[in-house]
Amino acid sequence: MLRRGLIAAAAATLLASAAQAQETVKVGLILPMTGPSASTGKQIDAAVKLYQAVNGTTVAGKKVEVILKDDTGVADITKRLAQELVVNDKVAFLAGFGLTPLALAVAPIATQARVPEIVMAAGTSTITEASPFIARTSFTLAQSSVPMADWSIKNGIKKVVTLVSDYGPGIDAEKSFAEKFKAEGGTIAESLRVPLRNPDFAPFLQKAADAKPDALFVFVPSGFGAQFVKQFVERGLDKSGIKLIATGDVTDDDQLNGMGDVMIGVINTHNYSAAHDSPANKAFVEAFKKANNGMRPNFMAVGGYDGMHLVYEALKKTGGATDGEKLMAAIKGMAWESPRGPISIDPDTRDIIQNIYVRKVDKQNGELYNVEFATIPNVKDPVKAAKKN
Ligand code: DHB
Repeated sequence: MLRRGLIAAAAATLLASAAQAQETVKVGLILPMTGPSASTGKQIDAAVKLYQAVNGTTVAGKKVEVILKDDTGVADITKRLAQELVVNDKVAFLAGFGLTPLALAVAPIATQARVPEIVMAAGTSTITEASPFIARTSFTLAQSSVPMADWSIKNGIKKVVTLVSDYGPGIDAEKSFAEKFKAEGGTIAESLRVPLRNPDFAPFLQKAADAKPDALFVFVPSGFGAQFVKQFVERGLDKSGIKLIATGDVTDDDQLNGMGDVMIGVINTHNYSAAHDSPANKAFVEAFKKANNGMRPNFMAVGGYDGMHLVYEALKKTGGATDGEKLMAAIKGMAWESPRGPISIDPDTRDIIQNIYVRKVDKQNGELYNVEFATIPNVKDPVKAAKKN
């Protein structure tokens, strides 16, 4: 009797867990919630929560459950967490990835487990080539750096020093800026690469000043801009006549307002500004601030918000089916209106196609913002576009 009862209880448990597995779609969200890139984690986590608050948690009859894990920004941890999420939690999606090495560490797992990997933050061009199961809702550095070079040439800048963080996205920024700038007749006086971890910009800023360029082109990842600007001012470069130009990672909405009026007039290029003038963005910024004690969303938040949109819409298209191939087929070519403007997922590369905006830092209602004044529409990743030709 006892034995039969136990078997029946075990069978009931199995059935219950099978039913639950059917009804819940799990999204493993891996972010740096602590460590030097914690601001990226904080922004994306807040955006994912907002997306679910606005759109509900049921999609195609299934409950979407987000499991948040902190990888502290260390690739070995990202990889272990992804493995655990796939094997133990049976997630249907892996998402997040605050830095390029973290996104790359998970690519073999996505391929092997046939689980879509939604890259919400990292920006090195090659990431999407690391697995056919990767799709990106963030940006590539070449997308923003090429328009920055183009603007510079058209506005009388002839000699530039580049200064970038020494890893994937920095090298992409340096190379894509230099290639375009030189092709248009400009000169690169120095190409400076600063360590990603614990950067001391002072010796590099000295070198940049010594080269006497018209402008200094800078990329540092989200969360590092304020420290760069502090040292830029401490070394007196703001008074040197050398123009500061940058990708919008430097004039990050998360830190910009704290950088001070020295930033007014800095020209930069990027995919998102909290000041983007559209009804969709106004609603997004207002709801995000309301839910997060007034915190302003940055480009990472938008990458997270749109990444959740991709998850929801893919599930709608598959009728709730979580087969990895079906989800990827649903993702390819998807197009929608993001708070940043119109975006789509390139069906050939699974990378994002989006507008890039030329912006000028200015004061609006007493706060510093990146104010957009020109738009380059529907930019594909220039690195992959060049490879195809
Ligand atoms: C990456 C990280 C960032 O914070 C950023 O602003 C751009 C790129 C990256 O590691 O790919």
